[in-house]
Amino acid sequence: MEEASTKRKVTHTLTSGYSDHVRVPNVIVMVGLPARGKTYISKKLCRYLNWAGIKTRVFNVGEYRRKEENACDANHGANANFFSADNQDALRVREESARRAMEDLCEYLETSKGTVAILDATNTTKKRRKMVIDFCDEKGFRCFFIESVCDDPNIINANVTDVKVNSPDYKGVMSAEQAKDDFMKRIDNYKKQYEPLDMDNETYLSFIKVINAGRSFYVNRVNGHAQSRVIYYLMNIHLLPRVVYFTRHGESEYNAMGRMGGDSPLTPHGDAYAHALEQFFKGERVQDLRVWSSQKIRAVQTAKGLKGIAAHVEYWKALDELDAGICEGLTYADIENRYPKQTEDRKKDKYHYRFPSGESYEDVVARLEPVIMELERQGNVLVVSHQAVLRCILAYFTDRTMSEVPYIDVPLHTLIKLVPRAYSCHLTFYTFDVTRRVWTAREGSLNLCESPQSISPPNTPARTP
Ligand code: F6P
Repeated sequence: MEEASTKRKVTHTLTSGYSDHVRVPNVIVMVGLPARGKTYISKKLCRYLNWAGIKTRVFNVGEYRRKEENACDANHGANANFFSADNQDALRVREESARRAMEDLCEYLETSKGTVAILDATNTTKKRRKMVIDFCDEKGFRCFFIESVCDDPNIINANVTDVKVNSPDYKGVMSAEQAKDDFMKRIDNYKKQYEPLDMDNETYLSFIKVINAGRSFYVNRVNGHAQSRVIYYLMNIHLLPRVVYFTRHGESEYNAMGRMGGDSPLTPHGDAYAHALEQFFKGERVQDLRVWSSQKIRAVQTAKGLKGIAAHVEYWKALDELDAGICEGLTYADIENRYPKQTEDRKKDKYHYRFPSGESYEDVVARLEPVIMELERQGNVLVVSHQAVLRCILAYFTDRTMSEVPYIDVPLHTLIKLVPRAYSCHLTFYTFDVTRRVWTAREGSLNLCESPQSISPPNTPARTP
């Protein structure tokens, strides 16, 4: 097998323009029976890599197949027979769909400067995988397989019931019960053809097997930075239900004066918010709640009352506000007067702009990676942090582009509750009715929530609406 691997390397050298590069485009190829979470992994991974600055896109072969069927008016709303190994016509449609997805993926990596393309399909036969491998070899792309292996009937059943019955294959075509029945037959058809990645005879391939939604893993021949990051990420995510809460500190003295950054304490209004927050969590009774606060005085004071309620409170330097460097402690008007050029530069590209002797949003994202990874590993958490930092974290969960990040609206005295769903997250904004709150966002804010919920005054124990 070592020999086969050497042969493949030689092919790379001969045909690709990337042969001696470290940063080679990667094609991530999903493998597995239907309802094993391949689309879930693809979407989540894509969101993470883009957030981390690695340009990524998912190519879902099912979507190409549906377009193909529409084009030849065949079998709209594919049923289980369509996926039988004996159905030659359907097989042609399926192969053509995979081919088209690969063509687009190639264009994405070659001309749109994508770094990672995820091929989301079952890729359950060696023949299909060979087609993908040959294609990647010819183009000089690195190929990495993620196989999701799952025999836990609870996980499969939940996936079929919660996600698959709502697929465009079934919506408006049959009832949920019929769809479930049909999907189980589809799985049986795939089982007849399924050839899992072979841990003894395909050792020249780079791959990870994710077994029963991350209970265990098998990793083989990791090749390069992007693949290592993918593995690290996959090993940290879980499917268990949980809630993550986010809040900025209460109003600080600097907020009240319109000054940036610093390390000032809370105003009486900020104190009132801290108290209201404490009452809210007393009422919520969140199981094993962990509180992660920044190390700035205003955040520490906001989290103080939660010590007796949470399982524990931890203070992360990584959650401290974006460092505004020479502009720390100034108002936006001061900055415009003293540093007009800096103000202009920041307006042009707020995400990449770095304050002299300070940070950019891009820098904050980089230092938040361990926080995101730990948030993925944990259960219920409340994060007490700051405007810029929470924008970066929320961008990860809500799949926002770099240019949107610095404009996400995260008002003071507002608690954000985030519940992960199959392919997205559900957000609830609770606006606390604690006297006034200063407005610290500037023009062009991006609102993540259209109808915030109001929370009762501080002394009344709050309820979850
Ligand atoms: O004004 C509050 C604040 O948290 C400052 O400390 C920080 O510098 C700023 O917001 C970040 O927001 P922006 O990036 O929009 O200036």
